[in-house]
Amino acid sequence: MTNTIKTKVGIVGGGPSGLMLSQLLDLKGIDNIVLEKHTRDYVLSRIRAGVLEHGFAELMREAQCGERMDAEGEIHEGFYINDGGTMHRMDLAKHTGGNSVVVYGQTELTRDLYDARAKMNGKVIHEALDVTLHGLDTDSPSITYRQGDEKFTVECDFVIGADGFHGVSRKSIPKDVLREYEKVYPFGWLGVLSRTKPVNHELIYSKTERGFALCSLRSQVLSRYYIQVPLTDTVEDWSDEAFWDELKQRLPGEVAARLETGPSIEKSIAPLRSFVAEPMRYGNLFLAGDAAHIVPPTGARGLNSAASDIYYLYHAMMDHYLEGDSSGLDQYSAKALARVWKAQRFSWWMTTMLHKFPDHPEYDQRLQDIELAYLLSSEAAQDSLAENYVGLPF
Ligand code: APR
Ligand code: PHB
Repeated sequence: MTNTIKTKVGIVGGGPSGLMLSQLLDLKGIDNIVLEKHTRDYVLSRIRAGVLEHGFAELMREAQCGERMDAEGEIHEGFYINDGGTMHRMDLAKHTGGNSVVVYGQTELTRDLYDARAKMNGKVIHEALDVTLHGLDTDSPSITYRQGDEKFTVECDFVIGADGFHGVSRKSIPKDVLREYEKVYPFGWLGVLSRTKPVNHELIYSKTERGFALCSLRSQVLSRYYIQVPLTDTVEDWSDEAFWDELKQRLPGEVAARLETGPSIEKSIAPLRSFVAEPMRYGNLFLAGDAAHIVPPTGARGLNSAASDIYYLYHAMMDHYLEGDSSGLDQYSAKALARVWKAQRFSWWMTTMLHKFPDHPEYDQRLQDIELAYLLSSEAAQDSLAENYVGLPF
């Protein structure tokens, strides 16, 4: 027997994108359901980046989920770039007329969204397996899934594909409609989370002869560090001791000297990739977040790139259901992609400027050096960096 669920918006994926949209729509009385493949604990065990741009923080507040973020998150008005031993501060506030970012772990943010959904009795189905999309190019799309032995059909007006890079939604768009653009970088980031005091009160992006490193944080007692490693390396190749030794060598002497080390509580390697799928709408399926695009983490754009998708979708759905105006839905793909590509450009630029490219010809290496030298010497270039880092307007 198949159970039938009727709703307005069927959302595939219970990551930050899906949960945020679900919460915002519910607050406007637009009925929806979230179908998540994994358990809540599994989703909340994933360690992700921790920098939220201004617009995303605003959306969290609009979704009535900003309380803990505002209490525990840290406002950062700048960050540092270490250029081969010399630290330079990028003053975000000065270059953006007072704008800033919020340092708050994505895992905590997802927990807040889950809690908010539970408080409103939002429909969030975990361990929804074999999710399959049907009739996307018709006026009555549906989603089928299984929970244990029980089968379900969700009948809805719209399907939102917020199921991440490996999800089923993007793959449901016919091959002759979908175009995919991809750039794979020849290195990864080895990340370590440790219960230690962060080495610096603001983030440090470090460009050195030995490769890139990043000093980030989750709180005053929890640090997050990364080093660039070859794609052939595995986590087993890196003892904690080897990691700390290498990180120290990629920091200015005085910073390395005050680095507090300790056992890693999480250690993983992530390859760096840029990816965009076009269009972001097919019939009544709308892609959002990582399902449609991913960026290398260097510019901290991942979640922030998802934020504008959610913002545009939320407004388009409100216009459709509350005002009878579907133009926002019709413009969604073009509007979302215009901002997505700007975030792609910025992430590619930061990545290219700060990493060591083993196979780059000397000419390209000189260009890379001069790109950074130009940034560090030009107020106009720093305006541009800051404008992008705090997030372009939606
Ligand atoms: N059916 C149901 N759910 C699925 C399926 C499926 N077939 N495939 C994947 N999912 C779920 C995943 O388990 C995950 O919880 O979809 C969710 C997608 O979440 P994310 O990958 O976190 O993507 P998104 O919500 O768009 O968030 C974007 O996450 O990866 C970071 O840098 C990225 O910060 C950005 C943010
Ligand atoms: C992180 O804290 O994990 C982080 C911060 C900034 C980045 C990437 C990752 O650019």
